Amino acid sequence: MTARAECVALDAADPLRAHRAAFALPDGVVYLDGNSLGALPRATGARLREVIEREWGVGLIRSWNDARWIELPRRVGAKIARLIGADGHEVVCTDSTSLNLFKVLAAALRLQSLHPRGSTAGRRVILSERGNFPTDLYVAQGLTDLLGAGHELRLVDFDEVADAIDDRTAVVMLTHVNFRTGAMHDLAGITRRAHDAGALAIWDLAHSAGALPVALNAASADFAVGCGYKYLNGGPGAPAFVFAAARHLTSLVHEPFAQPLAGWFGHRTPFAFDAGYAPAPSIDRFAVGTPSILALAALDVGVDTVLAAGVEALRAKSVALARQFVELVEAQCAGLGIELASPRDPDRRGSQVCFRHPHAFAVMQALIARGVIGDFREPDILRFGLAPLYVRHVDVWDAAAAVAEVLAKREWQRTEFQRREAVT
Ligand SMILES: Cc1ncc(COP(=O)(O)O)c(C=O)c1O
Repeated sequence: MTARAECVALDAADPLRAHRAAFALPDGVVYLDGNSLGALPRATGARLREVIEREWGVGLIRSWNDARWIELPRRVGAKIARLIGADGHEVVCTDSTSLNLFKVLAAALRLQSLHPRGSTAGRRVILSERGNFPTDLYVAQGLTDLLGAGHELRLVDFDEVADAIDDRTAVVMLTHVNFRTGAMHDLAGITRRAHDAGALAIWDLAHSAGALPVALNAASADFAVGCGYKYLNGGPGAPAFVFAAARHLTSLVHEPFAQPLAGWFGHRTPFAFDAGYAPAPSIDRFAVGTPSILALAALDVGVDTVLAAGVEALRAKSVALARQFVELVEAQCAGLGIELASPRDPDRRGSQVCFRHPHAFAVMQALIARGVIGDFREPDILRFGLAPLYVRHVDVWDAAAAVAEVLAKREWQRTEFQRREAVT
């Protein structure tokens, strides 16, 4: 088993070690929840003070032009594009992941009704994974109900998706890295399979963007969405992003309501104040209302922390951290009721490692009380996010030791660790 001193040495030799200093992490905390809420970049406070005090306070409404607030959704979107293998003009930051998914799913279904592909017209199946993040499934259910056009959400298990794609499939809608287990789909392979069958592919990159390289255009992905508050460190409730492949922006240009949340920020000329809607002939059509400038400024800083490190280097470190964490937990917790829930193969896993335990909720509360912050996901998952920008090898060592102690001493049995708050 790796000794703690070896971890200290690995951290000293880590090419990314300087990046941790860019974050304001509290002493005595091992933070393994950056897959849920990224840590606070030190630069965020100063940037927000600047936006609040100078741009808003002094510049007032002039700052929409003078401080280029109006361009911020596209500027931050273009930065995120570099992390997900897209072109800068294909990504915009706006709204939440849930809302953006609604927009792109509607657009994809419209594309299918305009240009039915393959042998069967009238494709009606939205194919997804049973264990997908619930909001994705709810959005699909809500849109299907609203359209009233006979669409059907078909759910299959993680490993069954590729084989379930057939000539009834209109859209394959998946989260690249599963929120519970960290299992990662083959984005390029499934997209190819979807296209071969005449379907379109939508990817939710909530657990990928900023943690590992994604190559949307190399895979010819159709649409994608993702969160700003996880590995992109944009802060709680940060704006999300939306990607539409340039070819679809072109082919939908004469379809004003292909993205049905038609709002004035998606209009071709918002400040013409026309009574009729005409969508922007660009990714801007996925914007809806006035962007939240404070939130976008914070996201801008967060995305910069990722760009400064480089996503390839981040992935290499994340794989090393995960391998070590699995090894340390399994070495110390044999016979203590814990079982790896993530794929062992790093190529099939995102940047989180999960274990099953029958009392996972209470175990996680006991860990948090010790300063090791991960989270719990129903029904029995202990989730540890390994955000490689600021998680060190020594953190992983300390976390594994804490897991072993909590289990061996049955600390999780204490009454205070059974109480559930609204957010787990
Ligand atoms: C995979 C995935 N998609 C979507 C969401 C929700 O996004 P939002 O609440 O920003 O709409 C989450 C939240 O954790 C998620 O994990």
